[in-house]
Amino acid sequence: MSKPVTTSTYVRCISYGLMRRLADFIDPQEGWKKLAVDITDPSGESRYNQMHIRRFEAFVQMGKSPTCELLYDWGTTNCTVGDLVDLLIRNQFLAPARLLLPEAVRMAQEVTLPLSSQETLPIHEKQLPIQEKEVASGKPALAQSTEKQHSAPSYLSQESSSLQSSSTDFHNFSFHDLESITNNFDARPESDGGNKLGEGGFGVVFKGYINGRNVAVKKLVAMVNVSVQDLKQQFDQEIEMMAKCQHENLVELLGFSSDGAQPCLVYEYMPNGSLLDRLACLGDTPPISWSIRCKIVQGTANGINFLHENNHIHRDIKSANILLTDTYTPKISDFGLARASVTFTQTIMTERIVGTAAYMAPEALRGEITPKSDIFSFGVVLLEIITGLPPVDENREPQLLLSIKDEIEDEEATIEDYVDGKMSDWDAPSVHKMYSIAERCLNEKKSRRPDIKMVCSLSDRIFTLSACVCGYNISYLYFYLFSCRSNSIYRR
Ligand SMILES: Nc1ncnc2c1ncn2[C@@H]1O[C@H](COP(=O)(O)OP(=O)(O)OP(=O)(O)O)[C@@H](O)[C@H]1O
Ligand SMILES: [Mg+2]
Repeated sequence: MSKPVTTSTYVRCISYGLMRRLADFIDPQEGWKKLAVDITDPSGESRYNQMHIRRFEAFVQMGKSPTCELLYDWGTTNCTVGDLVDLLIRNQFLAPARLLLPEAVRMAQEVTLPLSSQETLPIHEKQLPIQEKEVASGKPALAQSTEKQHSAPSYLSQESSSLQSSSTDFHNFSFHDLESITNNFDARPESDGGNKLGEGGFGVVFKGYINGRNVAVKKLVAMVNVSVQDLKQQFDQEIEMMAKCQHENLVELLGFSSDGAQPCLVYEYMPNGSLLDRLACLGDTPPISWSIRCKIVQGTANGINFLHENNHIHRDIKSANILLTDTYTPKISDFGLARASVTFTQTIMTERIVGTAAYMAPEALRGEITPKSDIFSFGVVLLEIITGLPPVDENREPQLLLSIKDEIEDEEATIEDYVDGKMSDWDAPSVHKMYSIAERCLNEKKSRRPDIKMVCSLSDRIFTLSACVCGYNISYLYFYLFSCRSNSIYRR
């Protein structure tokens, strides 16, 4: 029999079974990230930086529990269950803390409740922490989003319902219609005669054909770590956002369906799929030339500029969310994670850290929301575009693409060493210019990153430079640049 756990038990001595039970509470909604950023060394410095956090995140893809890996690592410092319980209580993970030391949790609650800022509220009106709700329902259920408390504009709040969504200009499809245009949501890949275009964190995307045109139908599915409530919020939010934002570099929403088993969103079909897949030449597609890559950079920057100009932060800028038309015009997708910011001088904190960690700025990993985090993510996309490499690869050294910036800074390599060998039309001056934008976007300090307007003007210059190398007429280029900026609608 294993010894009972006490305050002085070392974390490294916690049994595997108990560790797993803790992880069941902390893995969902990436709760472990919240703990990781709160763990300090004896000197008071954070023990884990964003690089460490990304490494822990890689364990998810390997089917391992990041919570267990975090605790194994922290355990090597001889920290005790007492330290762990303090950490859990501080971060409102009361249910797992109770698994370890129930008495300590009871005492902590007695001490902290009267000090709470909610003191003036009657007990029944107090917002229970997520983990408390889980205990009430008897199992470690998927945590509910608490973002409502933080997101200010009412049109994006949870009160905005699908019924309101139907008051937008979008077509309200019946689920049955969408079933018939997607061959009953045939989940075989297109190459096997099916309709599946891809799959992401919130659902599966199918190709359909309606009224003489191809469309992409995203069927939202509650996956691991995503509650039904989150899903509905994503759905409403996406529709509200799309109704407001129309721009040549943003994917167009055509309609939605909310009468079926799952909510669906219907988008314009993007024949060249995602930038991520095209850079990887998935399905043996030809490599993208440097001049087209410059056009993609410029168009994507314009799309982000439009969002930021209208006080929207995307929060999930990545190459999988940059889709390409038949002529490789880039269009940014997935506004579901985006939130309108109150003002750009103010930052909003969120408990649920969203976005893909390989692209996330240090402050975004800590849950802060600022347009400068989109700039950081765009910096990672720029590195992907120059190198043709994926943002993270466990079998590569360095695993994270953004680490090549350190190598280059330390003069261990040059950006030219990393230029994608699959393209032949690149030129050193424009590659250097693009890398210098990436480097600035990837500054750890958000205040030192350029804003999107600056990024746009720098990328315009690269586009002009690369296009001149390709022999385009200069007056055509100015016409093109002007029309990109003006071809947009924002509805208030
Ligand atoms: N409008 C579209 N036209 C063509 N293909 C699309 C379209 N939308 C999505 N896809 C394909 O489906 C894939 C999955 O998209 P989805 O947005 O669901 O996931 P993701 O972008 O990889 O991750 P996330 O859920 O974080 O956004 C994309 O990578 C792309 O290949
Ligand atoms: Mg996506």
